[in-house]
Amino acid sequence: MKHLLSIADLSADEVWQVLNLARELKEEWRKGGNKPILKGKTLGMIFQKPSLRTRVSFEMAMIHLGGQALYLSPDEIKLGVRESVPDIARVLSRYVDGIMARVFAHSDIQELAAYSRVPVINGLSDYNHPCQALSDLFTVWEKREKLKDLKLAYVGDGNNVATSLLFAATKVGMDLALASPEGYELSNDVVKLGQEFAAQSGSKIELVRDPAAAVRGADVIYTDVWVSMGQEEETERRLKDFPPYQVNAALVAQAKSDVIVMHCLPAHRGQEITDEVADGPSSVLFDQAENRVHAQKAIVALLMS
Ligand code: CP
Ligand code: NVA
Repeated sequence: MKHLLSIADLSADEVWQVLNLARELKEEWRKGGNKPILKGKTLGMIFQKPSLRTRVSFEMAMIHLGGQALYLSPDEIKLGVRESVPDIARVLSRYVDGIMARVFAHSDIQELAAYSRVPVINGLSDYNHPCQALSDLFTVWEKREKLKDLKLAYVGDGNNVATSLLFAATKVGMDLALASPEGYELSNDVVKLGQEFAAQSGSKIELVRDPAAAVRGADVIYTDVWVSMGQEEETERRLKDFPPYQVNAALVAQAKSDVIVMHCLPAHRGQEITDEVADGPSSVLFDQAENRVHAQKAIVALLMS
């Protein structure tokens, strides 16, 4: 691993390397703290969009490993506006030992990586969210002690989070059912890539319209917001199209009785997920949020130590 831009670029072995190291580092942390394997190292964090989890979990991951993180707000950097993306990559990578960036256009993170001397980590782009999905695999593995042959049902928008989940699941042999409204499905290119990985790992991919069909027999139900960052002008249309895709108690009741419910957060409670489900016995939302720290410790350790 040189950069982490998409899970599509990782082998199944590399995915497992992240998960195994995340488990080791979480255990070490629980026993009193991590060894300072990133002492003296700094992660520069560029944000074009807001964040709670990604910002704080990366910052804490660096601190726990003896390093530090530098937050660069949307107003400071003005990626591609105040200065070109290649020049920002050239300059910043002379100061820091790794760059994490949250961007709009995926091509911006690809360009940062192309011109950076240090590893670049994708902290969400309009295309995908690899740190989230690696961390989510870790959460499912922790809860179920396996990944292969489990079924994850994703209900909602075929967005950046869904894209990374498809890649992550099909790398490790998890089955995946996706239910999205017409016009909001994953792109054909993404599905094609997922099918290639599934052919290697034995995952089954189901693309359905009906959320109830997706969750039938599911071990995990996953949802995300109906309006992602950057899509605010589509809010009215999306709020009309998505209500049948709400993850509520009636939908959860159609999955396995021990199903776990996941959401990358932030949640728009009352839209894609009800309070009853988000705060109910199946929800693992906050373990999932915590695990961002543990999974990202593994990512920065593998890329930067
Ligand atoms: N899930 C996630 O990436 O959250 P933030 O947008 O708060 O970073
Ligand atoms: N799909 C959401 C994920 C937020 C973590 C967005 O892009 O806004």
